[in-house]
Amino acid sequence: MMAHRAPLIVALRVPGSAVPLSPRQAAPTIETMTTTLITGANKGLGHEAARRLVAEGHDVWVAARDADRGKAAADALGARFVVLDVRDEESVAAAAEHVGANGGLDVLVNNAGIAYPPDGLENDSPAAIAAILDTNVVGIARVTHAFTPLLERSGNPVIVNVSSGMGSIASTTDPDRIESTIASLGYASSKAAVNMLTTQYAKALPGMRVNAVDPGYTATDFNGHSGPQTVEEGTDAMVEMAQVGPDGPTGTFTDRNGPAAF
Ligand SMILES: NC(=O)c1ccc[n+]([C@@H]2O[C@H](COP(=O)([O-])OP(=O)(O)OC[C@H]3O[C@@H](n4cnc5c(N)ncnc54)[C@H](OP(=O)(O)O)[C@@H]3O)[C@@H](O)[C@H]2O)c1
Repeated sequence: MMAHRAPLIVALRVPGSAVPLSPRQAAPTIETMTTTLITGANKGLGHEAARRLVAEGHDVWVAARDADRGKAAADALGARFVVLDVRDEESVAAAAEHVGANGGLDVLVNNAGIAYPPDGLENDSPAAIAAILDTNVVGIARVTHAFTPLLERSGNPVIVNVSSGMGSIASTTDPDRIESTIASLGYASSKAAVNMLTTQYAKALPGMRVNAVDPGYTATDFNGHSGPQTVEEGTDAMVEMAQVGPDGPTGTFTDRNGPAAF
């Protein structure tokens, strides 16, 4: 289990900033900006969350595994870009080093995810389940592990894990919920694990706010744009949880209407 380490800097600090202030410094300006990294932000919900958080005044890193598409998205949004493939340990480590060398991090949004197996694997075969878990679950652990030292230097470190109603045992067994009508071995079990990772990280990292969110069924490439929600609706919970303060909730699971059942 990841041991919680005390913040490296505990002296005077601007909320939301990675930069400590000495008592003689003038009133903070750019250092007060919250720096936020979103994985899988080149499109879909991650891209919309990046757009909304830029509008909220965050200094946003669009993280994406494809450099061309990621950089184009970041440039269009007025964000910064870093290449990051959540399945590739070296890529994640290099991204953390790059972000650390360029000012640090306050908010990490673990958004990247897949519903269907990559590389032509048969859906819900053991190999497909392993690939989905590697992206959706181990990917979050890789990224969180690599960025935790940066977050520990923030005055208000926040982690948002993008889960799903499909990861809720309550919803997937409730006949009144659409989630109960879908059988999805890999995806549903991966998102159940994301919920559990969230509550365990919340305990392991008591100095941080660590929360899981369910975007709700939203029209993106993920589902062939079949979801009834817009990406703006689908990012309401992400954007809210990305902006919680040091006294905000931790270890929770919410959707755009409030608390969601685990
Ligand atoms: N849409 C919904 O109805 C819905 C509902 C509940 C939860 N969610 C969750 O919301 C999150 C975003 O989904 P979305 O609807 O926005 O899907 P999307 O449009 O398909 O976007 C998924 C993003 O994840 C990225 N990604 C996939 N594998 C990656 C990897 N190995 N490394 C880095 N990035 C990777 C994709 O990059 P590429 O472009 O390179 O593939 C893309 O940027 C997912 O975690 C999903 O499970 C979605």
